Amino acid sequence: MMKSENPVGVLDSGVGGISVLRALTKLLPNEQFVYFGDSANAPYGTKSREEVLRLTFQTTEFLLKMNCKAIVIACNTATAAAAQQLREHYETLPIIGVEPAIKPAALFMNHPRVLILATPMTLQLEKFKNLAENLSDKATFKTLPCPGLVELIETGKARAPQTEEYLRTLLKEELQDPPNAIVLGCTHFPFVGQTLRRIFGNSVRLFDGAEGTARQLRRKLSENCLLAPPENPGRVVFRNSLHSDEKIKLMENLFFYGF
Ligand code: DGL
Repeated sequence: MMKSENPVGVLDSGVGGISVLRALTKLLPNEQFVYFGDSANAPYGTKSREEVLRLTFQTTEFLLKMNCKAIVIACNTATAAAAQQLREHYETLPIIGVEPAIKPAALFMNHPRVLILATPMTLQLEKFKNLAENLSDKATFKTLPCPGLVELIETGKARAPQTEEYLRTLLKEELQDPPNAIVLGCTHFPFVGQTLRRIFGNSVRLFDGAEGTARQLRRKLSENCLLAPPENPGRVVFRNSLHSDEKIKLMENLFFYGF
């Protein structure tokens, strides 16, 4: 029987899900969180769906051993590849996924041009394609996989000149006819939000799924009578499959300072 004092488990292929964790702790300051970054196996976005499924189950088992009362899959790729199977397997466990914020981006103005940045796997999956197709009369979408960007962020280079150079080259064509909105469809990408603003200027709107995920977690915990009591001191514990001090330091820096 899960208790409301137990922690919430948050998982990602690496450090990206910390962009979601920041929104979770802001909305739910009394919760305890165990964040697990699977940096030893990052990136997920270029692996097979079966492999991501296996790794996501493995991490969920780890988090359950740490008595987590709910799981947040703070990874678009793992959500697309594994959320449904996890929910079928752990029937009573609240499992919250994160999805590219396509809808709010499509509806924020009249027929915007929306650029969706995500991993190759997220962009290939049927679920994602359906989401974009259902909104195709509301916005013009363009998708762009960003191979190598997750690795730059994983190695602490989110704000390095090398990353800005990478993005300027990748987005060269987009700059000819800039989008009105960019969907950050990978949880690593909010950490290059500032750089994207520098490249496109402040008129471009950036959308990610972090706040929506936090609201969904609050809703699910409340429905299951699992919200931490108000006297609970909130806390975050970081774990990483690489077991390196450097990685834990990077995770803390991203959590506290955003770089
Ligand atoms: N942060 C993840 C996502 O939201 C996965 C990135 C990766 O490992 O490829 O998709």
